[in-house]
Amino acid sequence: MISTRFQSLLLAACLLGAFPANAAEIPSIAKSPTGGQLIVNGQPYLILGGELGNSSAGTAAQADTILPHIAQLHVNTVLMPVAWDQIEPVEGTFDFSILDHWIDVARQQHLHLVPLWFGSWKNGFSNYAPAWVKEDTKRFPRAISAEGAQLEILSTLGPETLKSDSRAFAALMKHIREKDQDQQTVLMVQVENEVGHLGRGRDRSDAANRLFSSPVPPALIQKLQAARDSFSPELRAHFNPSGTTWSAVFGDAANEVFMAWNYARFIQEVTAQGKQAYPLPMYVNCQLPAPAERAGEYPSGGPHPYYLAVYRTTAPALDFFSPDIYWPNFEYWIDRYKFNGNAVFIPEARLEAAPYNAFYAYGAAGAFGFSPFAIETAPAAPDDHDNGPTLASVYELIESLSDILPALQSAGSTRAIVLHCNSPRPTQTVSLGGYLFEATLLRSWPAKSLLEDDGALIILQTAPNEFYIAGSGLTVSFFRDPDVDTKISGIASIEEVARSNGGWTTLRRLNGDQTNQGRQLSLAPHQVHAYRVILSSIEQH
Ligand code: DGJ
Repeated sequence: MISTRFQSLLLAACLLGAFPANAAEIPSIAKSPTGGQLIVNGQPYLILGGELGNSSAGTAAQADTILPHIAQLHVNTVLMPVAWDQIEPVEGTFDFSILDHWIDVARQQHLHLVPLWFGSWKNGFSNYAPAWVKEDTKRFPRAISAEGAQLEILSTLGPETLKSDSRAFAALMKHIREKDQDQQTVLMVQVENEVGHLGRGRDRSDAANRLFSSPVPPALIQKLQAARDSFSPELRAHFNPSGTTWSAVFGDAANEVFMAWNYARFIQEVTAQGKQAYPLPMYVNCQLPAPAERAGEYPSGGPHPYYLAVYRTTAPALDFFSPDIYWPNFEYWIDRYKFNGNAVFIPEARLEAAPYNAFYAYGAAGAFGFSPFAIETAPAAPDDHDNGPTLASVYELIESLSDILPALQSAGSTRAIVLHCNSPRPTQTVSLGGYLFEATLLRSWPAKSLLEDDGALIILQTAPNEFYIAGSGLTVSFFRDPDVDTKISGIASIEEVARSNGGWTTLRRLNGDQTNQGRQLSLAPHQVHAYRVILSSIEQH
């Protein structure tokens, strides 16, 4: 119950214009120990996303062709660049006409938008900053290389850069509030894009060198000490709170932690000013390291999992942290962002692998959203039986589950498996509700000797022996989990089902050959289907 006193305070604040009258309904992130969810209009919202290529949202007219195509893919949210040089070509003069048209067309197509603020940095570099910024290196200083050269990268230590970027971002957020707070086409915003220093470890400008040779601020050491329980193994291995210099406190990681702290400080200010104008959820995305890459070969000081505790303590205005996952070990990287209080969202991923990895994101990592890159190039065909499954067919399935999936994710009642035919491991098992689900790419019916297709599935448990399994290309066997009890399991029934309007329709009851004589569930390759599987467990005598 909201107290009467609180209600009057709320009313007074609204009347005074402290925050919009419908502030209670602004999208927000609900954090939980297992991650978190995006809340839109009071309900958990699953983003079935896609990010546009870098040159696809630079004109208003592109919206007219691109968004209607994307709307056919069962995508519900489009991530689109909004460049600083586009909205503030002349200092202090703002032009939001391109964004406004995209918002208008998105509404016609029943799509949501997530603007990506390409401000001071995009993939480490600063090419989206306006010319008046790039040309004035005195007022907007650059990062300096180890060889003493000016880089095409704005320094994190330019006070005027911070002031101008924050002002432009706040103007963008104010504009979005004025245009959109009633309709909420815009759900959240990404601040900058894949930040980090590209070069030998860190910025070597005089300002950076001076700061690097000064003691680590005691406040940072104290905050990190307090957050020690949430440290990554990499930070734990380096952190020495009794040291003084950056090298003494962070050892080999000193350059990278130093850059993380500087980017985080800058982004905290930009984000805070943006939120003052319109407090939508805000996040940063990360370019992940390749194996054996050195910091600076990948953006040094970006929000990657090793030193993320620095961001979490220095930039509390950010709601969550996201990886862009292009590497093949998708599961490893998404799992590194699944920690207490971090709502999992993947803003960028490889489009070709997306129909499989989407299952893992929603089913295993509890993601509230997934968004492959260059979505405008995805085929519209919902069922491509030669090359599928298509992302459209996977999104259609997840869309149909969206009324029950968030609650099941929060309850820990979902699992997922992705198997690749070029991997040495064609079989994997997960445990849920007292049963083991063993999925394999090998098929016994119809017989097939070569593994040609990847496979993926999602499992939802809806009652003690009731499971919904959807996916493609895998054969599933069921066992009782011996760590739970000594019973044995059996299949009571398998039915092909479809979910619509909050209920399930039974399409077929599977028997005989289609269940390998009552022993397995077979998910055909290239297509996505859903099944209700009722299992039973009996005591052994
Ligand atoms: C990651 C970036 O964040 C995107 O803007 C784009 O450049 C992709 N890489 C793909 O190349």
